[in-house]
Amino acid sequence: MSKHDNLVKKVNNNICNTYGRYPVSISKAKGARLYDLDGNEYIDLLSGISVANLGHCREDLAKVMAEQSQKLVQVSNLFYQEEQAELAEKLLKTSDAGKVFFCNSGAEANEAAIKLARRYMRKVKNKEAYEIITLQGSFHGRTLATLTATGQDGLIKEGFGPLPEGFKSVPAGDIEAMRNAISDKTAAIMVEMIQGEGGIRPLAPEYVTVLAALAKEKDVLLIADEVQSGLCRSGKWWAFQHYGITPDIFTSAKSLANGLPMGAMFATDTVATGFEPGSHATTFGGGALVSKVASKVVDIMNDEKIAERAAKLGEQFKKEAAELITRHPDKVETVRGLGLMLGIQLKIDGSSIFAALRDKGFILNLTKGTILRLLPPLTIDFEDLRTFLKTLDGILSEN
Ligand SMILES: Cc1ncc(COP(=O)(O)O)c(C=O)c1O
Repeated sequence: MSKHDNLVKKVNNNICNTYGRYPVSISKAKGARLYDLDGNEYIDLLSGISVANLGHCREDLAKVMAEQSQKLVQVSNLFYQEEQAELAEKLLKTSDAGKVFFCNSGAEANEAAIKLARRYMRKVKNKEAYEIITLQGSFHGRTLATLTATGQDGLIKEGFGPLPEGFKSVPAGDIEAMRNAISDKTAAIMVEMIQGEGGIRPLAPEYVTVLAALAKEKDVLLIADEVQSGLCRSGKWWAFQHYGITPDIFTSAKSLANGLPMGAMFATDTVATGFEPGSHATTFGGGALVSKVASKVVDIMNDEKIAERAAKLGEQFKKEAAELITRHPDKVETVRGLGLMLGIQLKIDGSSIFAALRDKGFILNLTKGTILRLLPPLTIDFEDLRTFLKTLDGILSEN
């Protein structure tokens, strides 16, 4: 039995069966490379689903992690900690938000956003408004509230009822549907500026402008879910910055500590008054170790101009990938995305193409059966992306 087969057996025997895993066992990683148990090398075009935005196992981050692990790791939020305060200051400089709440994942950040929106409406605005309107095709997480907010049906919701009340979703891009859905019970509209799990679908700029104006007109909050699109991935610190709007709340997680679990919810100073001591909390959120690592992540993103890099590489990729549409008009529909959040929409089922790419050493994701989703480390060499395009071109020619 191979090392891989042995591991599959162990995992299947002992771990809850919730994932459709790729037939690959990863044993180590460096930069934009993954290595399996048998020593095969892969070009990583997924970054652990937009987590290792700065690449895997960096020495500068490992050093910070090692040093901090000997000083202070975690003591809970019953105490003040310099590491957390320093991170908050750095992160708040990246947008107009006034306050941050630290947690441990994207779902938790969105859960905090939903709770804050509801509590702000009731406690600060004295309004019995609790409804959250999201977009169809969205993905907001797997807690009961965030899976209910998610604008998709299927396994994500099946069998988990009764689901929390006060959520509805409307078609993305349809401003009249949104206008009709808003009532005096609406607390917030929550959207991903670029739907990730939904297939790398950036919202149209005109739609977002009108959506932000509508939220103001109706006095409801606008929440941006930046869990996948944030932290320089889209070519700006936050994807909403492409649209010239300022959300009342936005959320982040994934690459905040480049691989250690961390989430964050940002709000304006006014909206943040919806929380008070005892109203919301988490044991681990903003612990010293993850905060120190995240601080270094923010420094590197600023110092190495990672957002600009992602923007440049993304534009070049789309330019070169357009060749695929010309060369394979019956198979490739479009290439879309912002920065290094990229989707290649196929006209055919993508399973065999996806498997062939993996066999040739490329790790990426296939969404909705027809969209090749690329979320490479933002530090990747363009040559790796070019090699991917060349390989994909070869596979499309053979199929
Ligand atoms: C846009 C978005 N929101 C929320 C989540 C949930 O994040 P987590 O898996 O860290 O709970 C994800 C995860 O993929 C996501 O892409």
